[in-house]
Amino acid sequence: MKILVTGGAGFIGSNFIKYVLREYQDIEIKNLDLLTYAGNLKNLIEIQNDPRYEFVKGDINNFDLVDSSLKECQSIINFAAESHVDRSIENPNIFITTNVLGTQTLLNCAMKNSIERYIQISTDEVYGSIEGKGLFTESTILSPSSPYSASKAAADLLTLSYHKTFNLPAIVTRCSNNYGPNQFPEKLMPLMILNIIKDKKIPIYGDGLHVRDWIHVEDHCSAIMNILLKGRVGNVYNIGANNEFKNLELAKLILKIMNKSENLIDFVPDRPGHDRRYAIDSSKIKNELKWKPKIPFIEGLNQTIKWYQNNQDWINEIISGEYKEYYERRYKTKI
Ligand code: NAD
Ligand code: TYD
Repeated sequence: MKILVTGGAGFIGSNFIKYVLREYQDIEIKNLDLLTYAGNLKNLIEIQNDPRYEFVKGDINNFDLVDSSLKECQSIINFAAESHVDRSIENPNIFITTNVLGTQTLLNCAMKNSIERYIQISTDEVYGSIEGKGLFTESTILSPSSPYSASKAAADLLTLSYHKTFNLPAIVTRCSNNYGPNQFPEKLMPLMILNIIKDKKIPIYGDGLHVRDWIHVEDHCSAIMNILLKGRVGNVYNIGANNEFKNLELAKLILKIMNKSENLIDFVPDRPGHDRRYAIDSSKIKNELKWKPKIPFIEGLNQTIKWYQNNQDWINEIISGEYKEYYERRYKTKI
């Protein structure tokens, strides 16, 4: 089988490509990525010369390029997206272009090429915030809060409509917050680790009591492969590992592991529309596909911290480019 992976130079897509080439000897991958600020071919150095891997630079909105890239591919897994909530608050437009219109182009190309499986990688953020002790199930009403999550919800609905209307064999996955190596440092976990390494303050939005449900990126990748191979078309599958932490709790835990003072915590103004809590029920994928997460949170967190401590070149290259401007604009302090 040959898979067209879109957005494979980003955090989850690159981890997915490395995971699949390692675990499945009979699968080939073509990676179509525009290499936006978040795309980085250094994430793929280990496999760049693998004969089962090919890279194509380009936009998922480019119909002809996607169409020609699909030749010989049986499946599409769409990771390509603008993925950061804070950037969607700064400038929502690109989120609609990439996440909604780009998905539609992929769906149209999938139809034209009679693709056997189309997997839309989505997020639990489409459900909005869940207070108290409840969990998101696949039938929880969609109630996105940010332009990012609204654009992802729109793409989910478009994908499911192509299944209902045109019989496209499509599936939507909704995963909780991922952590692990190669995550772009605008996201909370790497941002905290990198700032702590440099003894810099870590910005915590609002009161820090917002809850996120964490999963190691490799567990997300194994879930996606299960869904690709065994999932039912026209379905949505939630993916999560039941690791709920308040942001403040997580900050204190990372500071403790890294042996640094809690004085580094800096409460900063809250994010507009900030969802209070995400918590995912993944019993459907567990019961139906017999998938389960394997990486215990503390073990994954320790490995992740070590990865950032040991990959200073990767970090220095990112923080010297576009990200430096973004960080200084966003946090009004030098990186
Ligand atoms: P990322 O921002 O690290 O990577 C996105 C990738 O998409 C980059 O390589 C970028 O170059 C590429 N890209 C952007 N626009 C493109 C375009 N027009 N054409 C081709 N490529 C383009 O994102 P990520 O964290 O790896 O997330 C991947 C997917 O998983 C996204 O769809 C996101 O919504 C979803 N998701 C992420 C998380 C998370 O915690 N990071 C959780 C659940 C779901
Ligand atoms: P983020 O990594 O942006 O993921 P998402 O918003 O998609 O869940 O943020 C995770 C949580 O951390 C979220 O509650 C917002 C919060 N946060 C901070 O407190 N400070 C920060 O500097 C960032 C980037 C996020």
